Amino acid sequence: MNTTTSIPEVSFFDFLIRAPEIVKNPLPFHHDNFEKKGDTFRLHLGLKKRVIFSRNPQLLQYVLQKNQKNYTKTDIQTKEVAKYLGKGLLTAEGSLWKTQRKLIQPSFHKKHLAQLLGTMQRTIRKEIAKLPVGEKVAITPRFGKLAFEVVAKALFSGAVREKEIQRLQEIVEASQKMLVRELRQPYLGWWFKHGGILEKHFKMVREARQLIRGLIAERKKTSQQKGDLLDMLLAAQYEDGTAMDEEQMIDEIMILFTAGHETTANALSFTCQLLAKHPEYQEKIYKEIRTLENRELMEQLMQQQLIKNVLEESMRLYPPAYFIDRLNLEEDEFAGMHFERGTSLLFSVMEIHRHKEYWEAPGDFRPERFKGPPNQHSGYYYPFGAGPRMCIGNNFAMFEMQMVIAELIRNLKMVPVTKDIEILPLITLKPKNAILQFEKRDGEG
Ligand code: HEM
Repeated sequence: MNTTTSIPEVSFFDFLIRAPEIVKNPLPFHHDNFEKKGDTFRLHLGLKKRVIFSRNPQLLQYVLQKNQKNYTKTDIQTKEVAKYLGKGLLTAEGSLWKTQRKLIQPSFHKKHLAQLLGTMQRTIRKEIAKLPVGEKVAITPRFGKLAFEVVAKALFSGAVREKEIQRLQEIVEASQKMLVRELRQPYLGWWFKHGGILEKHFKMVREARQLIRGLIAERKKTSQQKGDLLDMLLAAQYEDGTAMDEEQMIDEIMILFTAGHETTANALSFTCQLLAKHPEYQEKIYKEIRTLENRELMEQLMQQQLIKNVLEESMRLYPPAYFIDRLNLEEDEFAGMHFERGTSLLFSVMEIHRHKEYWEAPGDFRPERFKGPPNQHSGYYYPFGAGPRMCIGNNFAMFEMQMVIAELIRNLKMVPVTKDIEILPLITLKPKNAILQFEKRDGEG
């Protein structure tokens, strides 16, 4: 078997001299190397650690779709995230993942989501109505709260109280922050462990799980159907006719909160910043909303072509899941490149989405590029991933974001406060200083 010599190398020295900059934002370092070395390169990270970085969409398809059986998620998700949030869809592997995905998938089909739209819309309207007018507003925490509440209400409808949602959000976010600290400061591991910091977080997680356990128990006592996700999860049956056990259900719920709120909040923040910078699109969207106004909610969502294209273009430029990583179980080969067993592969979705070979004027905001057949860019556009582990909540997220944008633009105009859109690449791609001003839309209609 050949070795991986056909893959261009970036030395540990090149990495070291730019380390201070990389800690703050690794993306320019990755970009420079892609430009210099090509669409796939191997980075030496000291000792024997090496990672393959790629912006080759064919390789991504090969790893996530065609030969996905040979690739697993890395320890970050399967061990580190799971340590706090349990083994749910995002963090599970192998047969557990497969049976769970099969069981949960139908609840996220458009036909089932239709039952949740009314609740989603009420939650969104309530939160948008709270936005202050004529003031500078940091939008990401607002959308974080909104997105968390939308998932909570989709799961539990009216059974979950405002205070409980707030506490669950605090705990999920504290766990995510703690995980980032552990990953960024591994040398403080002993202190996190022996200083009681980890235990404090695990205690909070136990509290969240107890709260969810209580909500499930309440529901099991009533025979009344609410039509929410919890009802669907309780009714779902494995092939042998059994239902999901309670601890597994709590894991899944914790994971849905985690996977479903920050990504959506980031995408909404970037989209609003782009719309504030391009007010002509706010006006075009306003016209679209007014034209569709008298239709059924589901029909409106299906017909909101421009809102969908704006969201797609926003996630092209700023994909919340800007990296997808995998590890191969057995050695593998693709287009003359050899990957030894256990190679870490990191796909830069952001680089694929801005690749000159696939996109005209990749840095420009041009929602029209998504007009036309729905899958025209599917070979090099992956905001929700690809293959069997593709985001289960993609339709949920699109419906939610479409409703938020429609509700905002129906009532308000968005004005930028800062000139540039800045990014903060953490576990997800977050906006930095996303501050806007909202003005009342009046005298129209
Ligand atoms: C704009 C919003 C969202 C984006 C950009 C996004 C993106 C992604 C991506 C890229 C993956 C695949 C990760 C990988 O292959 O390693 C993923 C998985 C997942 N997402 Fe989303 N997501 C969003 C919203 C949501 C929502 C709203 C939910 C649930 C309510 C959700 C639940 C999940 C779950 C459970 C998985 C794991 C699926 C599996 O492995 O079977 N996501 N998401």
